[in-house]
Amino acid sequence: MALALIDAGGRVISGNEAMAATAGDGWHIGMLPGQLAVAESEGQIGRAVSAVLSGGEARTVRVALRCRPDQVQDMRVIPLPPLLGAAAMLTTRDIREQERLERQVAASARLQAVGQLAGGVAHDFNNLLTGILGLIDQMLESDPDAPADRVALEEIRRNAHRGARLVGQLLAFARQQPQRRHLISAQDLVDELRPLLLKLLGPAITLDIDSTPGRLWVMADPGQLEQVIVNLAVNARDAMAGHGHLAIRFHDVLARDVPALGHQIMPLVDHVGIEVTDTGSGIPPDILGKIFEPFFTTKPLGQGTGLGLSTVYGIIKQSDGFIFAQPGPDGRGTRFEVYLPGHPPEEHAPERPAALSAPPPAGPLAVLLVEDEPSVRKVLTRGLERKGCRVTAVEDADAALALLRQGIAVDILLSDVMMPGMDGVTLAMHTAQLRPEIRLVLMSGYAELPRHREAKTLGVRFLSKPFALDDLMLALAEARLPEG
Ligand SMILES: Nc1ncnc2c1ncn2[C@@H]1O[C@H](COP(=O)(O)OP(=O)(O)OP(=O)(O)O)[C@@H](O)[C@H]1O
Ligand SMILES: [Mg+2]
Repeated sequence: MALALIDAGGRVISGNEAMAATAGDGWHIGMLPGQLAVAESEGQIGRAVSAVLSGGEARTVRVALRCRPDQVQDMRVIPLPPLLGAAAMLTTRDIREQERLERQVAASARLQAVGQLAGGVAHDFNNLLTGILGLIDQMLESDPDAPADRVALEEIRRNAHRGARLVGQLLAFARQQPQRRHLISAQDLVDELRPLLLKLLGPAITLDIDSTPGRLWVMADPGQLEQVIVNLAVNARDAMAGHGHLAIRFHDVLARDVPALGHQIMPLVDHVGIEVTDTGSGIPPDILGKIFEPFFTTKPLGQGTGLGLSTVYGIIKQSDGFIFAQPGPDGRGTRFEVYLPGHPPEEHAPERPAALSAPPPAGPLAVLLVEDEPSVRKVLTRGLERKGCRVTAVEDADAALALLRQGIAVDILLSDVMMPGMDGVTLAMHTAQLRPEIRLVLMSGYAELPRHREAKTLGVRFLSKPFALDDLMLALAEARLPEG
């Protein structure tokens, strides 16, 4: 709260620090309260103060202050008993808190929007890459005596895989990467990374990993959390130009201590804090707001894609956490603070025992393929046929259900998840009801949604796009019968 005291003459005689900050440059003892506001609001405050000083009740005026002319805020004038040495008190909201919160919300809203866009593009790209990789695999398998073409094909395959990795990073930023969360100790995880980090950092950078054990664990995907730490460490290494010091510290932040962190955007629940502090170049304040954006990099062409921190950001958000960057201690270097919701380790429920798999059916597998994207449908059909499957391919769930009702012979339903009309998860559930003898495999380019988990309890096997033909065959072999 910003507070100021006013004497009987209507002039400011003192104020707290919040008022000084809220009032901005014009703040001084002896000023008239009206001068806090823009010219159009001056009179309003002046009148309210006069009314209160001449014995009126407390009153509130809505005014725009000079330091933020585009925003109205309430200012309250309260009469004080004369013995206190001041005649009235002026109160308003401390503008700094408000501004900090708005900045945080605006930054995360912008990243959310970019993330949605990136996720959409990445999803389409995944479909393209699935098609391209499938075709390359087929060409490589079918034509062993065309060496010149082989070289070109291998090159295309490498590029397509590189594309797939980039898409994976974009999906991570868009929080749409498949995720396998467990309750883990962040500290143990980082400790296990130590050898890798030492190698990445090189001999002239010292590494210090906090070893006092914390009480709380985090619910996270271990592979993703490793990606976060490695990305932060690599950035730190680059910023330290080969020599310096990297410290990784952990601390439990209990719900009641969250406000003291000064990040108003964080909910008041227990967190595990992970601090990664380097002694590098630091991040100039003017780019601090941009570093989490995809493709933002200050590195020369060819040395950075600007996706490292976007990946980190997406992973942290997907794990319901927060990340902040700020200058290191004494204003040197950089400190990244990561907060993930913390849980006591004993909350860890034992894993459900895996369902017993029925033996795979004998003879060629009969696959019912449901995929709306024609190129992917074609490539998958050809690939599966070459592996000896009998394939019936349809473009949507309705067509598949019609065939299933007619009693078509099928061992495995292989379906895309995102399709116009009925989606793959719903189709799988219907199939489990209709034809419980059919195994279910779903292909998805998106993160695990709560409905996927539901489907998994039915025994559905998920396969993330893009995948190689061998992955697909493995998934088909591993597919289980739905549990009744
Ligand atoms: N620890 C750090 N110290 C100083 N600057 C940093 C640090 N971490 C990130 N940055 C700045 O943020 C930018 C974005 O980082 P990000 O990891 O997203 O991309 P990159 O490292 O440039 O490329 P990529 O990680 O994709 O190879 C960097 O180019 C750098 O300017
Ligand atoms: Mg990076």
